Amino acid sequence: MKRRDFFNWVGLGFMATSLPVALVACTPDEAAEAPAEETADPGPTQVDSSIREDGFAALGTVADLDTNGSLAKIGFVAGPVVAIRDPADSEKVLALNSMCTHQGCTVEWSGDAMVCPCHGSQFNADGTVANGPASEPLSQYEAKIEDDLVLIRAR
Ligand code: FES
Repeated sequence: MKRRDFFNWVGLGFMATSLPVALVACTPDEAAEAPAEETADPGPTQVDSSIREDGFAALGTVADLDTNGSLAKIGFVAGPVVAIRDPADSEKVLALNSMCTHQGCTVEWSGDAMVCPCHGSQFNADGTVANGPASEPLSQYEAKIEDDLVLIRAR
């Protein structure tokens, strides 16, 4: 056997024995690509928000209010609304028009204030202005808890 043939034969043998190892190494890990188990938040519980005989409409459930710290809906039948537990009486709810009185952005409850993301106005839980540029308070809706529902007066 010539020297060149010997090296060709050794090289071919090396490639033939390495191929299965290379294939296994390049095969994707099935466990890593398996879809994550369903852990997504199912979102707020759907409730019937039509206006009742007494003029109130359901914004959401008390359970969702307590889980999230607030309930909010821009397209609510009474208008844009954000509701929270009353910090002065946790048995009650406060509901405010969530449209910022400065230029109309939607405020969100931060845990201790209604905060406007547009220019930084902040409102207290009762809707009064804590920090401008807004100068007018957020208007309040009449709100109550009945059974497991947070109800807002819609008319
Ligand atoms: Fe809310 Fe300007 S729109 S601070």
